[in-house]
Amino acid sequence: MNTLSDADLDKQTVTKAYARWAPVYDLVFGAVFERGRHAAVAAAERIGGRVLEVGVGTGISLPSYSKSCRLCGVDISEPMLRKAQERVAELGLSNVEGLWVMDAEHLSFSDHSFDVVVAQYVITTVPNPEATLDEFARVLKPGGEIVLVSRVGAETGLRRTLEHWFAPAARKLGWRTEFSFERYARWAGQTCDMRLLERRAMPPLGHFSLIRFGKESDASSADASGLQMRAAI
Ligand SMILES: C[S@@+](CC[C@H](N)C(=O)[O-])C[C@H]1O[C@@H](n2cnc3c(N)ncnc32)[C@H](O)[C@@H]1O
Repeated sequence: MNTLSDADLDKQTVTKAYARWAPVYDLVFGAVFERGRHAAVAAAERIGGRVLEVGVGTGISLPSYSKSCRLCGVDISEPMLRKAQERVAELGLSNVEGLWVMDAEHLSFSDHSFDVVVAQYVITTVPNPEATLDEFARVLKPGGEIVLVSRVGAETGLRRTLEHWFAPAARKLGWRTEFSFERYARWAGQTCDMRLLERRAMPPLGHFSLIRFGKESDASSADASGLQMRAAI
């Protein structure tokens, strides 16, 4: 069983892997993940406001947001982020507030800084996914959403066997193949103020999912605590 502390990927391996991917990333992963990215951007835009993209990579999805969204991007890989900076400059994306080299697990933003935190194809590449989701929840404003597009591992069958077999090679490339949906659901169930809003299968072959978590607004938290108080009386 996966636990909160299983660091089966390490940051050095991931950083090295993405330094190698940076020059060809858009070519290899541009089209294949396009529908997932568009779905994530559409979900983020329904909330709008100030959006943090974690693992922004080459900034491939930044031009898809409407200009009314204020965008911040972070990534652990400097070579990937350099590509994002070039894209922002070339396209004159004036709604991008900034791009920073930063570890998703230790974000240098204050609590409640963002209306939406987006992470596309990132959670299965970080060493401590649950600690990373905790960080997303911390920087999220009450009433905001975490929007992920992420790989979800098969629970059974041939795909499960293949994913298990391919796991060591995938780690060297910078990601996990095995990652159950139960892990996301369990995190939401155990995290104060957060709840699972949606899971939607995404291409290629439905091996990925759009996953949305909502953070209770102050009002609903107050309602909930009011109810608890009334129940206690
Ligand atoms: C598969 S790429 C996804 C890039 C982009 N989001 C996209 O849609 O194509 C994963 C990205 O996550 C970044 N990443 C991996 N671990 C990270 C961490 N701990 N903190 C921040 N970024 C990380 C990688 O450097 C890489 O740019």
